[in-house]
Amino acid sequence: MALWGGRFAKDAESSVRDFTESISYDRRLYKHDIEGSKVHAQMLASVGIIPQTSADAICAELEEIRKQIESGDFTFQTELEDIHMHVESELIKALGDEGARVHTARSRNDQVCLDIRLYLREEILQLADGIRMFQGALAEQAEASKRVILPGFTHLQHAQPVLLAHHLLAYAEMFERDIGRLLDARRRLNVLPLGSGAIAGTTLPIDREFVRRKLDFPAMTRNSMDAVASRDFTCEVLAALSIFCMNVSRLSEDLILWMSQEFSFIAFSDAYCTGSSLMPQKKNPDIAEISRGKTGRVYGSLISILTICKGLPLTYNRDLQEDKEGLFDAIDTVRSILSVYPGMIRTMTVFPERMRRAASDPGLMATDLAEELVRKGVPFRHAHRKVGALVRFAAEHNKTLNEITLEEMRSVFPEADADMLNLFSPENAVEKRDIFGATGYKQVEKQLDFWKKHLQEPMES
Ligand code: ARG
Repeated sequence: MALWGGRFAKDAESSVRDFTESISYDRRLYKHDIEGSKVHAQMLASVGIIPQTSADAICAELEEIRKQIESGDFTFQTELEDIHMHVESELIKALGDEGARVHTARSRNDQVCLDIRLYLREEILQLADGIRMFQGALAEQAEASKRVILPGFTHLQHAQPVLLAHHLLAYAEMFERDIGRLLDARRRLNVLPLGSGAIAGTTLPIDREFVRRKLDFPAMTRNSMDAVASRDFTCEVLAALSIFCMNVSRLSEDLILWMSQEFSFIAFSDAYCTGSSLMPQKKNPDIAEISRGKTGRVYGSLISILTICKGLPLTYNRDLQEDKEGLFDAIDTVRSILSVYPGMIRTMTVFPERMRRAASDPGLMATDLAEELVRKGVPFRHAHRKVGALVRFAAEHNKTLNEITLEEMRSVFPEADADMLNLFSPENAVEKRDIFGATGYKQVEKQLDFWKKHLQEPMES
């Protein structure tokens, strides 16, 4: 029953069919397969390779097939390996000889590339939209908590006070680059591969330009061997998705820490948490945890496609059929993260007093003291050493930095003055960081303005 009937005396064993099929997952490309076949048939007629009446009959029947698939009336079976063979054999069943003309000057090798490219260029725009919603949720939460101060961490140790808005908007920046990477990959994959045939093009006088225009591709592949052999565009998309997930996993880790009893900086809404089947008191940050976990699975898909392509001789090898499942899975995974995460961010509760208390540790203002000394002309390296000595002095005398008297400070460095005793408020520390890109109130206000405007603007695709 296979379409290549002529060469084979026997049908494949059913175990072989099961092993070699891709219909169980590539059926998701049906719309793109049909779209490509319609334009291909119209092109064949336009250059006189097939009669116009055949092309019209093919297009009408392809529409029927699309409807059948969408209404669930279409039968998928592993006797027919993939979506391309399903659609073609249905055409032949319905139209006979006319249907048998559709695969003229085309191979599944260029067809499958076309389908994936059509699929990805559409999917990427939706993913980018979803990531923008995520940025919107971060910006909203940042706006709502724009005066909230918490300790910023390096090495997971208190470093300097920062605005919560600044911390949240750091992720909006990362996501902006994720969108950039996806759209950049999209530009490179948005190229027509059809017309490459199995490997070397075709002897028939096809019009690739016609197909390019109708399918709205800005360009077409220049080399048929490259076109059927390459999946680096899939690698790029999976790399971009992996990096996005990496960023999400870091946000997850921050939020999970913040929700722990030790921090108690935030709480997620009950609607975004689950409990324990054993411990009645538990409320767990599962969405953040599962997202962090799903990152591993998306990395798996990236490593999988890189490994599939590694060392493959030109051109198409059946190994390449393994390109799709991981790609689809990664896209579904990212979509699922995007379906819950923004809502969780929007509805989380912030505990500003807890955050402020943690940020009031005067040690967090030690840098500010060193910078005061710099203002008095002390070279920074010396200032750093002097303040370090003061921190040691305080520890030895069982005091915090803000409990040190002016005399004590003078005993450590003579440049000390009364103003230096007032440096130890986190609000001051934030206020004074008034450099573009810094955490100062005015600067974070600028960031918020940027995001409010930027998220309204159309995306450049
Ligand atoms: N199902 C195949 C794939 O996904 C389509 C291309 C098959 N080409 C071939 N010569 N067997 O890669």
